[in-house]
Amino acid sequence: MFHRKSPIGVLDSGIGGFSVARRVQQLLPGEDLIYFGDGAHIPYGNHSEQTIVAMARYMFHFMEEQGVKALLVACNTISCVIDQCLDAVSCPTFNAVQAGADAVSALELEKVGVISTVFTHNSRCYPQKILAQSPKKLVVLSCGCPDLARLVEHNLGDPSGMAEVERELRKELDGMVYEEHIQCCVLGCTHYPLVEDSIRGLYPGLPLIDPAEEMARQLREDLSSRDLLREEGHTGGLEIYTTGDVEEYALRAAQVGLQRVRGVHAYPPMELTCGV
Ligand code: DGL
Repeated sequence: MFHRKSPIGVLDSGIGGFSVARRVQQLLPGEDLIYFGDGAHIPYGNHSEQTIVAMARYMFHFMEEQGVKALLVACNTISCVIDQCLDAVSCPTFNAVQAGADAVSALELEKVGVISTVFTHNSRCYPQKILAQSPKKLVVLSCGCPDLARLVEHNLGDPSGMAEVERELRKELDGMVYEEHIQCCVLGCTHYPLVEDSIRGLYPGLPLIDPAEEMARQLREDLSSRDLLREEGHTGGLEIYTTGDVEEYALRAAQVGLQRVRGVHAYPPMELTCGV
């Protein structure tokens, strides 16, 4: 049913998943990628669970129609409700929260911090997954940032916008770093690795975990075990679909260093009715 030539899907509420697509391009340069960013509905992190599930399923259906051989659920917020979406696709899925928890449990830590959207924070998904597979003495602190993803989405590369991003970051992270003395911080929203340089500048020496790294590794392992890795010699391309602004997506893709973008296409957004 799946072929080596089938593409890999990456989905996110917005451009945040570019941080995941970028890692996959680095690790698996031969693979074709299809990206879907729901720009019309970002930020997901301030929506209700019912609405997030409905919007996510819309993207899962799109990916199923594209015949993807694996799906990366880059969005941490969607990863928290992934069990309610899995029946919409037939391929294996990889999600950011599981990958982030796997990355933490591979380290010997006593206190770890997670920054994420408000939804991800309130769901307690990260602490639960991390503690389920780590020593009991591990302390997991979590904080939800109400506006950070939206600020990153629309302000990358703009100095005054980035100053606002840094103010937001400090509001949420200063306490965990200077009062709680976390040993490392999980970037629990795909938008945050896009401003990793700013975070490193604000907190030099603080180790950061980007779940995308582990997700890309798990993807390679899975494709290899199913004999679905693209043959050497092929150069993979990237098709981007968005319900948001096509020009902004093309600009952001170039800004974050995505390679071989073959096209950026508009896709109709799901209509949100009062019941959703
Ligand atoms: N980038 C998404 C995540 O990883 C969420 C951003 C948002 O739409 O609120 O959680």
